[in-house]
Amino acid sequence: MGSYHIKGGRKLSGEVTVSGAKNSVLPILAASVITKGENIFRRCPEISDVDSMTRILDALGCHITREGSVLSVDASFLSECRIPDELMKEMRSSVFLAGSLLARCGEAVITSPGGCDIGRRPIDLHLRGLMKMGAEVFCREGYIELRARSLRGADIRLDYPSVGATENLMLAALAAKGITRIRNSAREPEIEDLQKYINRCGGKVRGAGTDTIEIEGGRSLTGCEHSITGDRIEAGTYLLMTLATGGDVLLKGLERSTLDPLVSLLEEGGYHVGYSRDEIWAAAKGDERMRCSVATAPYPGFSTDLQPQLAAFLTSVGKGSSIEENIFENRFGYTKELKKMGADIEISEKKVIIKNNNILCGADVRAGDLRGGAALVIAGLMAEGDTVIRNTKYIKRGYGKLEDKIRLLGGDIREYEK
Ligand code: UD1
Repeated sequence: MGSYHIKGGRKLSGEVTVSGAKNSVLPILAASVITKGENIFRRCPEISDVDSMTRILDALGCHITREGSVLSVDASFLSECRIPDELMKEMRSSVFLAGSLLARCGEAVITSPGGCDIGRRPIDLHLRGLMKMGAEVFCREGYIELRARSLRGADIRLDYPSVGATENLMLAALAAKGITRIRNSAREPEIEDLQKYINRCGGKVRGAGTDTIEIEGGRSLTGCEHSITGDRIEAGTYLLMTLATGGDVLLKGLERSTLDPLVSLLEEGGYHVGYSRDEIWAAAKGDERMRCSVATAPYPGFSTDLQPQLAAFLTSVGKGSSIEENIFENRFGYTKELKKMGADIEISEKKVIIKNNNILCGADVRAGDLRGGAALVIAGLMAEGDTVIRNTKYIKRGYGKLEDKIRLLGGDIREYEK
């Protein structure tokens, strides 16, 4: 299962070069099945979710090569539209292939998507939108079969700005005749990156980053070169991690504005923060006390993907703070493990409340999902003594070269196979 062994209590200090965003590369890789010719993707994060996606693309007949962070995908000779069950369950993002396979083959067979267990995660908005474009949906024996002889442009209003539904519908719309409008769309920066990639391939999409996206379908798409945008969640994790140890960090290679909600919070809390367009520098002074009240929300609100890491950070300085979780109903599993380390926190309905400031102590803990696992890494680095974090497979889904990056900052972390 893998474990991280951390000797806590060291001040972390130094530079972090931010990797390409997990939530950008996954839908972009799914989109690549619609294109013909070679795609070169630069700055692909070395995470297991990318490995899972490339295994799926390989099973569909794409030609794939990889050298470090450069991935080449050629989907010219796609031969399959059914995603093998065991691969589908490895990660939720495989659901994007519903839209892209429908666009490419007029047919897709998927199973109920997998992913971290942080809530119900239904896909009704994806399916309703696809049906509005003319797709037929059959659910039988755990499979979802989608078919469309031809897709047609549609005016779709999402009941909720779902990131995955927005991206899936953008992909299917690429093959639809006429214009598709997605209203109340999600506005995450990763959607803008997807639009940038599609347009580089010859597509015509506009509006990403706003609440209405317009897709002109029916254009043929060729492969292109694209560099994946920086990962704001990875960046936020290192920001919180270094400050939690009383240290400082220079984050390089991130569109700074994408991390504004967290940066403002830290500035208000008295941390030194400086930035340019694509760098953030931050340092602890040593006497910070934060009392904040945060609520997770769709972008540009505070990201649910940073909620657990913020809670871990606040255990030492955030007495009286609370974080309300509004996106996923089951995202507090990590708090049980933080309590084992001495954190004085409690859950009250949708909120995690930091009751007291504590110096955490090392413990044997278990990651239950990706971002909850990252919160435990932060806690382990802050804590006095040794921490063992089990189930590293969850953390590896979204953090590439985590041990190397932490060691470069001066942290003491080792990975063991068991
Ligand atoms: C994406 C991100 C994930 C992030 C989340 C919210 C990727 C690969 N993953 O996940 O890291 O935490 O956005 O920012 O980009 N919902 C429905 N019906 C649907 C779809 C969603 O009810 O058909 C609900 C979900 O249960 C959840 C909320 O909408 O409560 C947000 O989900 P969504 O934005 O779709 O998240 P994901 O795309 O799964």
